[in-house]
Amino acid sequence: MTKSIFITGTSSGLGRHTALHFARQGWNVAATMRKPEQETELSKHERIRLLKLDVTDSAQARAATEAAIEAFGQIDVVVNNAGAGSYGPLEFAEEHTIDGQFAVNVRGPINVIRAFLPHFRERKGGRFINISSFMGVTTAVPTGSLYNMSKFALEGLIEGLYYELKPFNIDLHLVEPGGFKGNRFVEKVVFNTHPDIRDYDPLIDKVNALMMAGDESRLDDPQLIVDEIEALATGRNRRFRTLVGKTGRDLMAMRASMPIEDYLSTIAKSFA
Ligand SMILES: NC(=O)c1ccc[n+]([C@@H]2O[C@H](COP(=O)([O-])OP(=O)(O)OC[C@H]3O[C@@H](n4cnc5c(N)ncnc54)[C@H](OP(=O)(O)O)[C@@H]3O)[C@@H](O)[C@H]2O)c1
Repeated sequence: MTKSIFITGTSSGLGRHTALHFARQGWNVAATMRKPEQETELSKHERIRLLKLDVTDSAQARAATEAAIEAFGQIDVVVNNAGAGSYGPLEFAEEHTIDGQFAVNVRGPINVIRAFLPHFRERKGGRFINISSFMGVTTAVPTGSLYNMSKFALEGLIEGLYYELKPFNIDLHLVEPGGFKGNRFVEKVVFNTHPDIRDYDPLIDKVNALMMAGDESRLDDPQLIVDEIEALATGRNRRFRTLVGKTGRDLMAMRASMPIEDYLSTIAKSFA
């Protein structure tokens, strides 16, 4: 039987690569996005069904889930990919930015997982693949605390859920990528700023230089990440956490090699 996958945030980046890859591999793909009416490429693919979904809206998550199950009979794998970033000093963040960071990166996966649980529980099977980040397992970019918060929360959510879903044969996985070539994530990042206060400027300038530099040698081929998602979707990789790419590997090796106090001060010094 043809396998079916449901993916959030397929309008660009990793979600889009993943949708196209699985369709080429012969899977049915429910490709969800906020504005499917603007999509022209994915809609041409016969294996892809476009569905409207803003992950922060739990009613829309339920409607998209029902539409995907109706279209394909059942869904085998759900990829919680939709995500957004917020950087800049916490002190300057707008209330809606703080709530929005949580709403997309944490509440979003919660909405989608809750929408699919009745289906997976009744089938006694199913797989949730959740796109976290190396920023979900370590800190490394000053002024990224809200993004760290959201991805650490996602990691905690998924790890905590493991126990209650295990009896139903529902698998949970976390994928922790770093930056990848061609990604436009940074362009959409919300930068928290203040019109008058300049105290954080030296730090902000260094963070901006790092984020905008686009050092290609630090960026991974997105296919690397998509291949890991496929390995998880097909059961070839059964790991709970999959850290992908150079950035995450180097940082986690450093973090494991020293006490946390030393790790924090080493990272801080590199931005001093
Ligand atoms: N790029 C990186 O450096 C990097 C590194 C590690 C992890 N990640 C993670 O990888 C995932 C994919 O990011 P990406 O790099 O491919 O960035 P991207 O190109 O900006 O893609 C993000 C996707 O999420 C969607 N999205 C944002 N808010 C949404 C909402 N409320 N409801 C539904 N969809 C929403 C965007 O849709 P719109 O077009 O409607 O905004 C877009 O399709 C994210 O979870 C991100 O945190 C990225």
